[in-house]
Amino acid sequence: MSQNSKGRTKLMLGIWLVVMLFIGFKAYNGSNDHPTSETVELDSATLDRIKPVGEVRVEDAVASNNAIEESERTAEEVYTKCQACHATGIMEAPKFGSLEDWAPRIERGIDEVLKVAIAGKGGMPPKGTCMDCSDNELKSAIQYMIDSAK
Ligand code: HEC
Repeated sequence: MSQNSKGRTKLMLGIWLVVMLFIGFKAYNGSNDHPTSETVELDSATLDRIKPVGEVRVEDAVASNNAIEESERTAEEVYTKCQACHATGIMEAPKFGSLEDWAPRIERGIDEVLKVAIAGKGGMPPKGTCMDCSDNELKSAIQYMIDSAK
């Protein structure tokens, strides 16, 4: 009985030693690693805090980019704003379908003509009254009129 309890005490002591060694080793290691692991934790915590904001911003940018692309009107749609003058050739507006009117403009090149259309000239109001038209939309409408010219 007493042998048995002695053996058990030895065993307990052995386990205790192993546990203490383990804890000591952990503590030693931990105190060594402490500053680095804290920095890492802080960094990842900071990243976590920044990340959603960054993601939202990127998604917002992508979403608004898509919105712009989606809201980009077709040449025909933009042309409805130009029709009033350009379908009839009123005030010497180059007439839709008239090669005679468009040929000199085609010669000058679409980029030059686009600049004039954006700035306005004589009876041609700036952006042809389509103030919310992008340069691209105006350009496609001009291309549409140029393509009509025969
Ligand atoms: C209120 C009438 C009016 C509207 C609306 C109008 N235009 Fe014009 N546009 C003119 C007139 C007039 C000219 C001739 C200007 C000149 O050469 O003196 C002209 C000329 C142009 C030219 C030739 C510019 C050049 O360099 O010779 C382009 C391109 C053009 N318009 C594009 C457009 C587009 C695109 C729209 C629609 C988004 C539009 N216009 C709407 C009256 C209009």
